Amino acid sequence: MAFTKEHIDPNKLPQHIAVIMDGNGRWAKKKGALRIFGHRNAVDAVREVTEGCGELGIKYLTLYAFSTENWSRPKAEVDGLMELLVNTLKQEIKRLNENGVKLKTIGDITQLPKNCQENLSWAIDKTKDNKGLTLILALSYSGRWEITEAVREIANKVKAGNLQPDAINEQTIENYLKTSGIPDPELLIRTSGELRVSNFLLWQIAYTELFITPTLWPDFRKETLYEAILSYQQRERRFGKTSEQLNPVS
Ligand code: IPE
Ligand code: IPE
Ligand code: MG
Repeated sequence: MAFTKEHIDPNKLPQHIAVIMDGNGRWAKKKGALRIFGHRNAVDAVREVTEGCGELGIKYLTLYAFSTENWSRPKAEVDGLMELLVNTLKQEIKRLNENGVKLKTIGDITQLPKNCQENLSWAIDKTKDNKGLTLILALSYSGRWEITEAVREIANKVKAGNLQPDAINEQTIENYLKTSGIPDPELLIRTSGELRVSNFLLWQIAYTELFITPTLWPDFRKETLYEAILSYQQRERRFGKTSEQLNPVS
């Protein structure tokens, strides 16, 4: 079946989609090329998913671009990825602005090379007044890192006497996450068929619907996005309740 935009119910759209963009290395290997070739070809897929979400009127798209654990990859690959990030920002800024996309990041950005940090700040500033899709790049990010940071900040507030331990609730924790103010993703897409979450948005995906596709990330196109959203729209999100509670017979 070909999945098109027309199949999607505009009244049941997720507000926030998160994506674990995986499979670049395998895509390159299949072509007998170096891993970096896969990363370069991933840019087309990033453009497709961003445009696709923008056109549908999705509010937030979070892309897992580089994890805390990815720092352990060979230096040449890490350097290649950082260079690709800078080049892509420069190359895509015009299109982002044309499409009203507002750029944000989550992650330990201070770990990135200086020129990456500078280009990110520049791109965030250039797109700050845009009113369309908010594109959140997770860079040097992991869920455990984010929760640890939040705990440290909360502990400091308690120590300073500005917060009572008894007053800490789920909302307090959310307020200290890097995604504070952004609704939890209703849909998480992972490409390349891996059945794991790899330290991504651990708190935020507590009740997220998962869509795992064998498609390798460089092959991801709008059609794959539509397929994921359609799958999401066919699910019953029960949040612990029974189906009968959600669909009472009148
Ligand atoms: C995802 O593709 C990109 C990053 C993690 C930066 P991979 O590079 O993990 O590709 P595979 O999983 O080795 O195929
Ligand atoms: C997850 O992909 C991280 C990103 C997509 C940035 P990995 O390829 O690093 O995940 P694992 O190590 O196979 O779980
Ligand atoms: Mg991978």
